[in-house]
Amino acid sequence: MDSVIARFPKTRYYGSKRRLLGWIYHALKDLPFNTALDGFGGTASVSLLFKAMGKQVNFHDGLLCNTIAAQALLADEMPFAEITEVYDFIDQIRLNNGFISKTFSGMYYTDEENRWLDGAAKAIHQVADPIESSIYFYCLFQACLKKRPFNLFHRANLNLRLNHNVTRSFGNWVTWEKTFSDLMKESFQDIQDVIKPAKQAVNILPHGDIFRLDTGYDLVYLDPPYVSLSGTSEDYLKRYHFLEGLSGYNQWHKAINENSSIKAFKSISHISEWQNKREFRERLFEMINKHNQSIVVLSYLVGAYPSEEEIAEHFRKTFKHVSVLKKDFCHALAKEKKIELLFIGSKR
Ligand SMILES: C[S@@+](CC[C@H](N)C(=O)[O-])C[C@H]1O[C@@H](n2cnc3c(N)ncnc32)[C@H](O)[C@@H]1O
Repeated sequence: MDSVIARFPKTRYYGSKRRLLGWIYHALKDLPFNTALDGFGGTASVSLLFKAMGKQVNFHDGLLCNTIAAQALLADEMPFAEITEVYDFIDQIRLNNGFISKTFSGMYYTDEENRWLDGAAKAIHQVADPIESSIYFYCLFQACLKKRPFNLFHRANLNLRLNHNVTRSFGNWVTWEKTFSDLMKESFQDIQDVIKPAKQAVNILPHGDIFRLDTGYDLVYLDPPYVSLSGTSEDYLKRYHFLEGLSGYNQWHKAINENSSIKAFKSISHISEWQNKREFRERLFEMINKHNQSIVVLSYLVGAYPSEEEIAEHFRKTFKHVSVLKKDFCHALAKEKKIELLFIGSKR
């Protein structure tokens, strides 16, 4: 499995489990399950693992951009006859003075890049085939992330990228200066290996609140946002609002919070609640209880809220069999080491 995992596309998504998949695989490989819910699916890295294990995969995330990307990554076959079809599509994208150019000048990308993004969003939204369009979006999202300092949209800090007179301890100036079209083509190369038939049909659930999902999966994997002990952190919508905007380009203007200095989306309660220290513990435990007839696997971190002991105690109250696994891990953009936790609970 390690060599299969090594071919999954790399990502810098905040909290992605891409680099922990080998460890997760060893923890799950002998458990008795067929249907699996990848709850809080993010980049679909855990869904790709389930698919490679031959399981029946159900992906879900709160954001539309992640759901579109999952549709691309988990597709059964490449819808293009030749790679040149994709390159020609990318090459015919024309600059357009649209919503992005008018709204985000000086914030995330240069003015010319903004015009290119307007052209790209319009062109992709006109693609009729849903898998083709999700693949173009996947490549566009990756290109957008690669050209951003910290790979995020939580600050309007284009100046960090353009200021050539500073010594940087982060970022990759060479990548930032590549064109969107070149980065899209690189991202397309990255997904060639994963788009292939699944043993059992993959189900991409519509984006929304995880609480709305039905129960009844053999295994429920939960990878919620981490809440720090101080309780202060941006939610995923604030981190990736620009990608969410591209996903619903024609409605973007309606979603923006006019008072936001970074032109972020208006808050969505089910996203912000999962990042809020006051509500998080109760929600997490309610979610575990809801799926208590399934094998529940929860990813979390040491030193976050609630504590390892509190979560372990809740698992022991809910399930007959409980195990807690730990692994030292260095997160993509954080210098300090973290300890990843995997709680596994089952009644049988
Ligand atoms: C830690 S990340 C998951 C990372 C993922 N396992 C991966 O490997 O990429 C948490 C995810 O929860 C999603 N999320 C936040 N609130 C949610 C909600 N109420 N329902 C569903 N998903 C939510 C975010 O969009 C984010 O992608």
